[in-house]
Amino acid sequence: MIREVLHYPDPRLAIECNDIDEITDDIRQLAEDMAETMYKEEGIGLAAPQVGEHCRLIVVDVSGPEERTDLMKLVNPRLENPEGDVESEEGCLSVLNYRSKVRRAEKVRLVAKDLDGNDVCIDAEGLLSICLQHEIDHLDGTLFIDKISRLKRTMYDNKVKKWLKK
Ligand code: NI
Repeated sequence: MIREVLHYPDPRLAIECNDIDEITDDIRQLAEDMAETMYKEEGIGLAAPQVGEHCRLIVVDVSGPEERTDLMKLVNPRLENPEGDVESEEGCLSVLNYRSKVRRAEKVRLVAKDLDGNDVCIDAEGLLSICLQHEIDHLDGTLFIDKISRLKRTMYDNKVKKWLKK
């Protein structure tokens, strides 16, 4: 089922999510819904709070744009061993009409569980590394616009205020 994606400044995007203690059918269904929603919105990642669910679950697929073949559904993901730093342009399905350069670690190690409870460990770099950092930030209530300069952020917030008045 396709879920509605929440948009900034919805306060539900700023909530820190809880760990998933048990991988239930509801969690599996949520992951399926999130993947379907991500593909429909042509995103490369989606985190549970973006559809209003406050548990530590993300879906990621950095393949495409034509064929999407690398879907990962990750439970309680965390990052270790950040290395280097890079700046790249990011956008977000929850941040409308805005992209900006963001500085992040170049390489990270992902540690998580899959939906069968198996351990997942991936050394990520490039787009996957950036995407994982972006999605895991969502689980802590952080958006990429929390990482840009104050000036850029103020300009974006002013635009959002104008849209909300309409
Ligand atoms: Ni995002």
